[in-house]
Amino acid sequence: MPALSGQVVVITGASSGIGEATARRLARAGSKLVLAARRLDRLEALARELDPTGASILAVPGDITDDTDRRRLVAEALKKFGRIDALVNNAGYGTRGALEMVPVDAIRSNFETNVFSLLALTQLAVPQMRERGSGCIVNIGSVAGRIARPLSSIYDATKHALEAFTDGLRGELQPFGVRVTLIRPGFIKTEFIAAADKASDEYLANIGPYAPFWEDSRAGVQKLRRVAGVPDDIAKLVECALRSDNPAPRYSGPFHAKIFLLLKWLLPDRLFEFALRLKK
Ligand SMILES: NC(=O)c1ccc[n+]([C@@H]2O[C@H](COP(=O)([O-])OP(=O)(O)OC[C@H]3O[C@@H](n4cnc5c(N)ncnc54)[C@H](OP(=O)(O)O)[C@@H]3O)[C@@H](O)[C@H]2O)c1
Repeated sequence: MPALSGQVVVITGASSGIGEATARRLARAGSKLVLAARRLDRLEALARELDPTGASILAVPGDITDDTDRRRLVAEALKKFGRIDALVNNAGYGTRGALEMVPVDAIRSNFETNVFSLLALTQLAVPQMRERGSGCIVNIGSVAGRIARPLSSIYDATKHALEAFTDGLRGELQPFGVRVTLIRPGFIKTEFIAAADKASDEYLANIGPYAPFWEDSRAGVQKLRRVAGVPDDIAKLVECALRSDNPAPRYSGPFHAKIFLLLKWLLPDRLFEFALRLKK
């Protein structure tokens, strides 16, 4: 079991939610952390709180969709710590709305953040892992990477893409001692919904004929709040994956996520959609 103490871990989307909780957990385990996100004030406050000396934590502000920022993130991590042992690809957001009403540019933007930028950052981190013969890539997927929902098909498609990418990369890097795994969170109380509302406001304001279905979907989210997990539920899974010599291909949590995934696996599609009231 690899010890986490002294391991250099880059976490994207560390300014809130799951990324922030992961940073807290790994800092307690003694890892050296590189925290990335756009909100510098948040990153700096977290870095100061976790290590006031600044010796073991580096905050690198930047937009993951910007190639220069991605290159700077990896360069600064290597300059300070000399290597990257693990990359936690966590930054992401959701676009919601009826497909016909969301401009293709907005769809591209969601794929740019959740998929292409993640692939590009992974490309930058992998060579030094492969050359050293060790390392770990942890991708934060979603239950939505297996279960696609009406009015959420764009975000859900980004997470489906991540499933395939993770599976392919795992086999590709396994001969070089680099581990690749995927975490599938269920509903977790973070800033995710607020960010999704902000990204989708324009398309949801005039949702027209889809309004009743959108109301149903919102009601479903409200129901889910009762069983929602906390960010540390997922941070625990990240820690577990990083500590393993041979991580599982996938981890899921909290409990409701496992139940949804089990039902999806067990039931025929029509029955599953009926059972979850995904389809009218
Ligand atoms: N919460 C859930 O129920 C849930 C369920 C399944 C999967 N997930 C996944 O978990 C991951 C983390 O989400 P969360 O729930 O913790 O939501 P969150 O609190 O909104 O955190 C999202 C993080 O991503 C960062 N981010 C977004 N766009 C970015 C960009 N262009 N460049 C750099 N950083 C960016 C944000 O930082 P800045 O805004 O400071 O840049 C923030 O730190 C996401 O991939 C999400 O899809 C969440």
